[in-house]
Order: sequence, then structure tokens, then C-alpha cells
Amino acid sequence: MSDTDDALEGPDLGVEGASLADIPEGGLLAGHFEGESVVLVRKGGSVYAVGGKCTHYGGPLGQGLFDGELLRCPWHHACYKPETGEAVCAPAIDPVPSFVVEHQGGRVFVRGVGKPHVDRAPIPSAPASVVIVGGGAAGFAAAETLRREGYQGPVTIVSADDSAPYDRPNLSKDYLAGTAQSGWMPLRPPEWYADARIELLLAKRVLAIIPAKRQVRLDDGRSLEYGALLLATGASPVRLDIPGAGLPHVHYLRTMRDCESIIDHSRRAQRVVVVGASFIGLEVAASLTPRGLSVQVVAPGAIPMERVLGPELGGFVRTLHEEHGVRFHMGQTVGEIGERSVTLEGGSRLEAELVILGVGVRPNVQLAEEAGLSLDRGVQVDEYLRTSAEGIWAAGDIARWPDRYSGERIRVEHWVVAERQGQTAARNILGRREAFQAAPFFWSQHYDVVINHV
Ligand SMILES: Cc1cc2nc3c(=O)[nH]c(=O)nc-3n(C[C@H](O)[C@H](O)[C@H](O)COP(=O)(O)OP(=O)(O)OC[C@H]3O[C@@H](n4cnc5c(N)ncnc54)[C@H](O)[C@@H]3O)c2cc1C
Ligand code: FES
Repeated sequence: MSDTDDALEGPDLGVEGASLADIPEGGLLAGHFEGESVVLVRKGGSVYAVGGKCTHYGGPLGQGLFDGELLRCPWHHACYKPETGEAVCAPAIDPVPSFVVEHQGGRVFVRGVGKPHVDRAPIPSAPASVVIVGGGAAGFAAAETLRREGYQGPVTIVSADDSAPYDRPNLSKDYLAGTAQSGWMPLRPPEWYADARIELLLAKRVLAIIPAKRQVRLDDGRSLEYGALLLATGASPVRLDIPGAGLPHVHYLRTMRDCESIIDHSRRAQRVVVVGASFIGLEVAASLTPRGLSVQVVAPGAIPMERVLGPELGGFVRTLHEEHGVRFHMGQTVGEIGERSVTLEGGSRLEAELVILGVGVRPNVQLAEEAGLSLDRGVQVDEYLRTSAEGIWAAGDIARWPDRYSGERIRVEHWVVAERQGQTAARNILGRREAFQAAPFFWSQHYDVVINHV
């Protein structure tokens, strides 16, 4: 994903300003101030001005939507408060600047950056401490929200990963393609955790939860007490049980370490076979092509991504990849992986020095199961993301919640959903009683084509 180009839209709001008549109530207008894009939003009779570049990947907020309450980014739907610029829903975390607005003879002018301010209601009930199991999308967003909401008690993230929370979706996109700098990947720099007093225990696994004692047991022998516990253990790739699946050139992709290992291996390979035509499998195909590898995709279905996108869009995605040289072997499964080839069940052999297995994920529910929490093809939660055990919440890929749109209990594996659930769970841990109501959304990127799905 690239930043917006820096072409500025609309009037210079510091010099010519904008006519109030051009900003309808509930509407927005894109302009700029001192070389930065700015968006004017009219809400409840007042006009507010905020920075026009989304703090997630730089999406143009002036081309977004004001829904009467919040300003939404057109790219991945982060939302901002026009009054303060605060990013209130992920995937953006940082605020955009808020500007001082002046009215003169029916025109609106921007007069400099305003003082950052955030209005926060007092915390209804603060637990003695919060322990978060999982340092991914949901776990990080929950920790950040706890501090943003003003919670002062101890916050600990225990993560089995050896990297601090990072931009996981980018592992199959720009980072794998080699077009993202490594500095883009961490969600926050290391010093942020110390400044925010968030204890980050990396490469540590929670082995057990003891709800009766409000305790978790770690793999280094320690136990941590919790006032509130958030389970955000995510999902793990489904492992293929076929001969050769354990060979060193065969990879799965979930973590930063997996990605580094694929990048390292791709430097010594010319041909790659991707097993699975899911979003991740095809993003990997799109990212390895510019590295000069010849890519073949093997998958059992007839059309890539047909289940989610339907046959027409699935066909479009296939053609897009074929135009970039990717060859498909649909309706096929892999029987065996050798040192330099992959043998399909039908007997054909595909030469490959690198194999990526992307055949789906399974939610990591073992901890919850062993602790006796109610499961329902995931961890069962209510609309406040509470599990069946007192003081324990769950969010992200593991959580199955009552979805207000379909009327069904659903579990999804999307980055923005996981982050927003982490945010909602954090507010509920503090007693705010906020039902999780976001519509599931994900995006996927293939070459210069981005697919957004709501
Ligand atoms: C390569 C890739 C690309 C993706 N691209 C997109 C995309 O473009 N758009 C999109 O919407 N979604 C995308 N996704 C999906 C998205 O990343 C996930 O839905 C999201 O990360 C889920 O967040 P989570 O917090 O539930 O879990 P995760 O982000 O997986 O985090 C789980 C954390 O729990 C830790 N953990 C697990 N068990 C334990 C334990 N016992 N003790 C301690 N720690 C534990 C793990 O180490 C990890 O830190 C992608 C996923 C991958 C792998
Ligand atoms: S660029 Fe705005 S939400 Fe991603």
C-alpha cells in the first residue's frame, strides 16, 4: 500500500478560505493549509477542520465520508472525530491534527493548528490490573485503548511472538514484495510501551488460565494475577499432513519471522509453488512476482476466492494474476513435496525451490477450552465481548459474537475487526458497556488492485 501522492485538492483555506454555502450540514470539503491537506466538516451547525491524510496508510480523508458523527477514511474505514481529530476506530490509531477555524463574512478560514484535547468521561470501574494474552491486532488495540481511556493500573501483554506488535496484513503485501521499509511494520516503537507503562512480555506463552484464582500461568514458570483478562490469541495456519511438508523450503505465513524466512529463501529460488488460492495465498503470489520468481498456484476449488467473492470477481482476480505471469492449477491438490518439486495428486510435477502453504487458519482456542470457557467454533462472547467466565473477555480471530446485521453469531478473521474488538473490549473492561456493532470489513491487495469487502 502506498501513501497518497501529495497533490493538494480544493481551496487554500488559509488564504482564500471556503464559502460556508459550499459545506452543507453533514457534509465535508477538501482543501489545504500551508502545504498540508485539510478537511472541513460541518456538524451541528459548526465547522471543524482536521488533517486530510489518514494516519493509517495516508488515505485521502477529503475523499472519505462524513456520516453525521465521524469522518471515515475511504481506504480502510478508520474513523476520526471532527471536533478533535482523534482516531476513534481502527485501523488508524494516531489522531490527525485539528485546526483553528475562523468565520469571516460567510467564509471559513483555517488559522493554524489547535491545541490537542480529548474529552474523556470518568472510568466507571477500573480493574486492579489487566492482562492481555496475545500481542496481535486485538491485543495491541486493547492495550492502547486502555491507556487512551485514562486507565492507570498495570497492563501486561503476553505474546508468544518474539516481535512487538506489527502490521500483520503487510506481511503478504508490500513487506513481502520488498517495497515497504521495515520501519513501517511495528505498530509502535519500543519506547512507546515503556512510556505508556505497558509491560510487553515477548516470546512468552500463557500455558493455562485459572479463572477461580484470576491467574494465568506462563511457560517460564511465573504466574500473573489479573483483575481483568483479555484473550486475543488469534489463529494459526492449518498444517498440511503430506510427505515433505516439513522440508526447510516449505513455509507458512503468519508471523514476522515466517515472512523474513520466506524473503530469505526467495533470494535463492527461481520458482515458487503457492498451495491455496485464498487471499493470503494470492497476495503472496502477487508479492513474489516482482521479486522475479515464477509463481504457480495450486488449489482444490474451480475459481480463486469464489466462496467469498463469487465467480465473476474470482475470475477477475485469476485473470489479473495471469496477466502478471502466475499460472494456476485449479481443481488440484498436492500429494507430496520434494526437495525441488511438488507432485500433485493427479501425478503432475511442478518444479519449485520454494513452497508456501496457505490453506487456511484455525482459531487458537485451546487455552479457553482448557479453562472451561464456553466455545462455539471459537470462543463464545456476548455483544460486550465477555466470555462465559467472570472477568474474561475475548476479541479478534478467536471470538464468535452476536452480529447485529445478520442476526447470527459470527467469527471472522479480519484485521480491522480484531482491532476494533480489542478497542471495544478495553472500554468494556473499564465498565463502559459498549456493544460491538462494527460491520465486518477487510481489504486485500493484488498488484495495484485493492479489493475492499464489507
Ligand atoms: C499474512 C497475513 C495477511 C493478512 N492480510 C489481511 C488483510 O489484508 N486484511 C485483513 O482484514 N486481514 C488480514 N489478515 C488477517 C489479520 O491479520 C487477522 O485477522 C488479525 O491479525 C487477527 O488479530 P488477532 O489479534 O485476533 O490475532 P493475531 O494478530 O494473530 O495475534 C495473536 C497473538 O496471540 C499470540 N498468542 C497466541 N497464543 C498465545 C499464548 N498461548 N500465549 C501468549 N500469546 C499467544 C500470538 O503470538 C500473537 O501475538 C492477514 C493475516 C495474515 C497472516
Ligand atoms: S489509509 Fe485510512 S484506514 Fe487505511
